[in-house]
Amino acid sequence: MGSGTAISVFVIVLSVGIHQYNPFIIPSLLGRGLGYTRDAYKAVCHFYDKTAAFVYQNTGIDLRYEREDEHYAKQKPEFQSPAKMHKNTAKLLMTKAELAQYDGSEGSKGLYVAILGSVFDVSAGKDHYGPGCSYHFFTGKDGSRAFVSGDFSENGLTDDLTGLSNKDIQGLWKWVEFYKNDYRYVGKLIGRFYDSKGRKTREMEDFYQKLKAAEDEEVAEGAEKRRYPPCNVEWKKEKGTRVWCTTKSGGVDRAWAGVPRTLHEPGKKTSRCACVEPKTAVEDPNLKEYPGCPPGADSCWIKEKDKMNKK
Ligand code: HEM
Repeated sequence: MGSGTAISVFVIVLSVGIHQYNPFIIPSLLGRGLGYTRDAYKAVCHFYDKTAAFVYQNTGIDLRYEREDEHYAKQKPEFQSPAKMHKNTAKLLMTKAELAQYDGSEGSKGLYVAILGSVFDVSAGKDHYGPGCSYHFFTGKDGSRAFVSGDFSENGLTDDLTGLSNKDIQGLWKWVEFYKNDYRYVGKLIGRFYDSKGRKTREMEDFYQKLKAAEDEEVAEGAEKRRYPPCNVEWKKEKGTRVWCTTKSGGVDRAWAGVPRTLHEPGKKTSRCACVEPKTAVEDPNLKEYPGCPPGADSCWIKEKDKMNKK
């Protein structure tokens, strides 16, 4: 082993020890150990990112939360050297009081928005966020909850996510991704989601768990929609409601059209019309024929009293 390699290995081992809380810094320092070359650094980062994504998919352990730093590095060429990047990102921790100084008002330090504890420089969107503009209320604070509640009052602009549904959590995450893509990442806000050392808090862990649950629910819903695609529905004043199935109904492209049935999904308060393969139609007890409609018909007129969405 050459002395250069030995030094690299030493730096990596040391960095793992020192920066346990910050896995992204490991590839950063590894890149440094490899001689500051941008390509080596990029290769290491990509390898790390892929491995972290694999670990997340298979174990639910999320090592990817430092991707913001990579994003930051992409946006600011001067930070693309791992050494500089480490130096800068390591310091990027803000208190609430510091963040409050970035509301774009006269004499303020800039225009920042925080969401889920990540701070972004939104000065490029000053027409939305500047003083007097529609979304100025998001600046200088973390008002995560309002991104999904739409409550932009002082009380609504809070980072308290208590009681939000998994779907809301997923909606909030989409906003985080929006900011990551469209604005410069600045750093972490010390508080609800990151502690004073920039480590994820318990509440952040809870957030990721709910996000994972929402993603699982979405996959399950997709499978359900493919198995029981929604029917086409039309209403005519003189004849009432018709439901019918085609090979594209419900937006699900398939080889079979199916027959309309009322589907009462367990745990749901309402029922809906589903197109079902005739064989399945007799097997699943949650499916009911429409009264007066022949079992093999691909179109049924529904009498008012048999309408969908009734208990
Ligand atoms: C929960 C409710 C909502 C939230 C949290 C929200 C948030 C935002 C944010 C943060 C932006 C700035 C995006 C950027 O940085 O580029 C924005 C832009 C905008 N929003 Fe909303 N919004 C909401 C509802 C609405 C509604 C109901 C309307 C329309 C009736 C609307 C119309 C717009 C328009 C027109 C823009 C500007 C888009 C552009 O110029 O690119 N928003 N919204």
